[in-house]
Amino acid sequence: MTPLDDKGRFSIVVGDITASAAEAIVNAANTTLLGGSGVDGAIHAAAGPELLAECRALGGCETGQAKLTRGYRLPARYVLHTPGPIWRGGAQGEAALLASCYRSCLALAEAHGIETVDFPSISTGVYGYPLPQAAPVALKAILDFLAEHSLPRQVRMVCHREETAAVYRQTWNLWYAESKADRL
Ligand code: APR
Repeated sequence: MTPLDDKGRFSIVVGDITASAAEAIVNAANTTLLGGSGVDGAIHAAAGPELLAECRALGGCETGQAKLTRGYRLPARYVLHTPGPIWRGGAQGEAALLASCYRSCLALAEAHGIETVDFPSISTGVYGYPLPQAAPVALKAILDFLAEHSLPRQVRMVCHREETAAVYRQTWNLWYAESKADRL
């Protein structure tokens, strides 16, 4: 996968985020932080019971906010837990909350000097956020943050399925083509 921005700090890949060797992986959690299905279930299963024990002590997390834990048995050193918005049709502030998930995780990573962060496609599974509407929100939040901050050095969107990655890539290519257009 070639880096998709001119500084190569962001890329879109297909894989299982629990196998990621990034310094921090993001968990698409729920507000209890006590685990669930989807990527939340996979991360807890791979990290082991100590992760749940640490999460219990955190007392939950608001939608759009993020909390940091260790990664325990995961290859990643840290997990950034962020509850995404549940899709309710798009008029309940979902886009702003989704953008806030990405920004909060990146800000927390920067505050801890974390250099590499891998994201899953937050809210686009159980929470029902339509992927074509989530992708531009996610990409804009990530790229705006990277434009203003030197940490994290490297951010990836880790898609579990090729079809998910295709939507992120299409969104990126559309933007990139447009931005090239206004350079002519
Ligand atoms: N690696 C990378 N991505 C994954 C993995 C994995 N191992 N497993 C699932 N995904 C992808 C899904 O395919 C989807 O694109 O993560 C994205 C987010 O889907 P969910 O995990 O369902 O998360 P979300 O839609 O944010 O719903 C969160 O589901 O698991 C519960 O406790 C969680 O209540 C919370 C809700």
